[in-house]
Amino acid sequence: MKTIRHKNSSRTAPSRELAELHARMTEAEETLRAVRTGDVDTLVVAGKQGPQVFTLQGAEHAYRVLIESMNEGALTLTSDKTILYANQCFARMVNCSLEQVMGSSLRRFLSAADRPMLRSLLKRPDKSGSKIQVFLNVGDGSHLPVQISIRPLAKNGINRATISMVVTDMTEARRNEEMLRTLTRRVVEAQEAERGRVALELHDNITQLLCAILVRCQALADKLPASGGPTKGEAMKLREMLGQTAEEVERISRELRPSVLEHLGLVVVLRDTSTAFAERTGVSLKLACVQLTKRLPGDIELTLYRILQEALKNVEKHARARQVTVHLTKPGNIVQLVIKDDGVGFDPNHHSTRQKGKAGLGLLSMRERASYVGGGLKVKSHRRVGTEIKIRIPLPLSAMASK
Ligand SMILES: Nc1ncnc2c1ncn2[C@@H]1O[C@H](COP(=O)(O)OP(=O)(O)OP(=O)(O)O)[C@@H](O)[C@H]1O
Ligand SMILES: [Mg+2]
Repeated sequence: MKTIRHKNSSRTAPSRELAELHARMTEAEETLRAVRTGDVDTLVVAGKQGPQVFTLQGAEHAYRVLIESMNEGALTLTSDKTILYANQCFARMVNCSLEQVMGSSLRRFLSAADRPMLRSLLKRPDKSGSKIQVFLNVGDGSHLPVQISIRPLAKNGINRATISMVVTDMTEARRNEEMLRTLTRRVVEAQEAERGRVALELHDNITQLLCAILVRCQALADKLPASGGPTKGEAMKLREMLGQTAEEVERISRELRPSVLEHLGLVVVLRDTSTAFAERTGVSLKLACVQLTKRLPGDIELTLYRILQEALKNVEKHARARQVTVHLTKPGNIVQLVIKDDGVGFDPNHHSTRQKGKAGLGLLSMRERASYVGGGLKVKSHRRVGTEIKIRIPLPLSAMASK
């Protein structure tokens, strides 16, 4: 902190007096600016009785030191959004001097798109505080992503400030978010590639081998005389079990890489998946699909299929549902899939696995898959009512001719 010295001498010549008055006015202005901006904490005024020291050390001074040492911007505003006070950190964020910031309207530093949102928030400020994410104009034409925490101040008649704000730079947080997204996308891609590889191995090697054993087993059973007794019966039983195993391996391979999806399309695969789910779990499943007159793009079909698989896996694992409904519709140029169950439900913001410190990947990968093809996913869930997963994907112009 700086100390400013004020001289207090007197001269007589009128022109000198004028010059001196001018100098003192400039000095006074500079002092005022320094006091307002927190650049000084002591004023030394030289007078006839020697120098007099004025300090700003009271409760206010301690708070000012605290606020100036923050790594976040701090502001107080009047009700018409004029900035009464800003700390150095905020001035650095918007690339301006404190003098340029204080006395300006906050509007000046907000991107045009964010102004209406902030205006409506400031009209009815929440007493317990509210947070918004906006972009600040940064002198050179670029924008800085920030989070603004807004809190109304108690009106005390002396202080005209009615709103306080803490402004947090979100550049790093956004970068981390973006990195996490890229990572999840890569995981989903790698998962898809690996599933394809395993499916091919199963189909080309294991199923072929099982079929060969099956044929030999049949031949062996045929060679045994009809009166072969328990040995012939055992051979027949073995053949049957091998048949079931081959079918099961083929089913797993199909689920891993649904070639049916490529050949027969989404509706057939959704139907197959739903039937298999109902048979396996005993949970009733109602499926309603819009008639599609044209195939959807391959990546969208795969996304919807994988999301249904993941959602049904969750129903089986967590929901304890009695009834599931799956709806495929096509409102306008959007394809929409809704999976609803009447199970135990959960709190999507604090689901139990997160509390146990072991976050699942299912919902995250569903969301990521949807955003991958330009869509979005919404989860609605209430305890003891059930869960609804809604996916909406806008269709590209080339796919719009379908109904
Ligand atoms: N249909 C549902 N009914 C009840 N709870 C659900 C349902 N879907 C998800 N949940 C809850 O949400 C949590 C997160 O689901 P998510 O699919 O992301 O992870 P997971 O199923 O636990 O693990 P993973 O999918 O990685 O095997 C689940 O642990 C469960 O508590
Ligand atoms: Mg899951």
